[in-house]
Amino acid sequence: MSKVHLIDHPLVQHKMAIVRDVKTGPKEFRELVDEIALLMAYEVTRDMALEDVEVETPMGMAHCRMISGKKIGVIPILRAGLGMVDGIVELIPTAKVGHIGLYRDPDTLQPVEYYCKLPTDIGERDLIVLDPMLATGGSAVAAIRFIKERGGKNIKLMVLIAAPEGIAAVQAAHPDVDIFTAAIDERLNDVGYIVPGLGDAGDRLFGTK
Ligand code: PRP
Ligand code: URA
Repeated sequence: MSKVHLIDHPLVQHKMAIVRDVKTGPKEFRELVDEIALLMAYEVTRDMALEDVEVETPMGMAHCRMISGKKIGVIPILRAGLGMVDGIVELIPTAKVGHIGLYRDPDTLQPVEYYCKLPTDIGERDLIVLDPMLATGGSAVAAIRFIKERGGKNIKLMVLIAAPEGIAAVQAAHPDVDIFTAAIDERLNDVGYIVPGLGDAGDRLFGTK
């Protein structure tokens, strides 16, 4: 069974309170989603391997450690996952960015794929799938399945808000994928929105419906 990591750092929780607020406008919403993603990336990448290096400072040699081994790939689920990319790439400039286009059919709530472009060396990268909302889990389960079908192996899922239903769905379908979230909310409403959640993340990021 995969693990669920609830990121309760005060800075993350403070920003989550503002991002949820119905009065927060699109400019501030976008900035906050980016900032929260950047802060969460510290926890998501905590297990990256390090190697010893010797660095010459102006005063002598320092024994230091640098990231070694596998490289990172970040894969936002379009559209709303795009709002989390810049924050992470700011922190990890060498990360490659893949894209998976999915939308939830409003009647069936089933994910429909419309785009997929992934790094060619996907099997050699540690992959972080990004989406602000994990509701029924249908989108994340499908996106992770597409990634695995194309050779992705080491996958983590990073979301801002998860519903218990979405967590259960991802854990059932992908027990190897750890979930990192800044909040676990109460439930879904009868049209599949997270309550209390933050509303429609894509609409709030981009101002379109
Ligand atoms: C939202 C959200 C997730 C999905 C979550 O996207 O960004 O991708 O719903 O719901 P699920 O867990 O029930 O699948 P949406 O389908 O609204 O598309 P958008 O990002 O283009 O707005
Ligand atoms: N997608 C969203 O953007 N918000 C929700 O609450 C559920 C799915």
